[in-house]
Amino acid sequence: MNNRKWHPGELLELSGYFWRTCTLHAAVKLDVFTRLGDEQLSAGAVATRLEVAPDAVQRLLNALTAMELLAKAGDRYANTPSSKAFLSKKSPQYLGNIIMHHHHLVASWAQLDLSVRKGKPIRQRSSFSDGEWRESFLMGMFNMAMNTAPMLIPEIDISARRHLLDLGGGPGTYAIHFCRHNPDLKATVFDLPATQPFAEKTIKRFELSDRIDFQAGNYLKDEIQGHYDAVWLSHILHGEGPDGCRQIIQKAVAALEPGSIIIIHEFILNNTMDGPLFPALFSLNMLLGTDAGQAYSEQQLMDMLTSAGAKQIQRVPVQTPNDSGIITAIV
Ligand SMILES: C[S@@+](CC[C@H](N)C(=O)[O-])C[C@H]1O[C@@H](n2cnc3c(N)ncnc32)[C@H](O)[C@@H]1O
Repeated sequence: MNNRKWHPGELLELSGYFWRTCTLHAAVKLDVFTRLGDEQLSAGAVATRLEVAPDAVQRLLNALTAMELLAKAGDRYANTPSSKAFLSKKSPQYLGNIIMHHHHLVASWAQLDLSVRKGKPIRQRSSFSDGEWRESFLMGMFNMAMNTAPMLIPEIDISARRHLLDLGGGPGTYAIHFCRHNPDLKATVFDLPATQPFAEKTIKRFELSDRIDFQAGNYLKDEIQGHYDAVWLSHILHGEGPDGCRQIIQKAVAALEPGSIIIIHEFILNNTMDGPLFPALFSLNMLLGTDAGQAYSEQQLMDMLTSAGAKQIQRVPVQTPNDSGIITAIV
């Protein structure tokens, strides 16, 4: 049993943390970090450049400096090395899309009590959103995967495999990293039709259009065309209830040749369902945004694989920034 002692100050800090969250979101939305670039600018100059209110932006810049996201010398503000690396659109490590996706989630999180009361979602599903919401969701997945893939891919040996199915692959980031790591591998990204332009653009950017193709479809309704010897299910099972997950796994297995590898990448809860923290919170995020989606425990995922006839089911020991985990099996 956990008997952590909380001090009132710590609880108030936790309660008010959204002030910092919203400050970061506003700065990314206004694109403060890209627009500052390599310059050192006064609040007045920033106000002119962003076409915002000078006094107000000065408060924002001071708060960002207090949060150590900007550096201030005299009355001028500049990016820090970290803000330039992660918050400027000019950087390949840019995290602004996922930050904007988080921003789109804030209004629903503010109504979590209602969702818990009714046991129903508050917002539309991100996978089926459109316009700017869809772009920040999909390219947010790209931001996350660009940081996680280099840690995961070397731990998963698919060197003997020839054709990977990246089911619900979004912009194709993992297919891209698997192909870069395994020079003889081809991949197919299967996702909803609206994802196609994002995936094709991303795959082209990495010059892999000759090895990675895109198949448009709905994995709950449509058949998967082709035959594969490996399937990668990354962050798709948490969008469905247990029945939907079983359906997806069955469909993936049907597209595989005997002896193929199935790899699940998820935010995996421990078997008592009360940690680690990120998967536990993520399950609430799925309550807010889906009919039956949730985070699953290692045992629940392994049971789903067993019911689909999989063998040699094992957890691969990997450590990622948000406690995502890998389970592999042979079918
Ligand atoms: C959370 S994202 C994960 C993207 C990618 N696998 C990754 O890990 O970065 C879920 C993906 O599943 C896709 N998706 C959701 N429902 C789907 C369905 N019914 N059929 C096909 N794709 C779906 C979404 O469009 C989205 O690209």
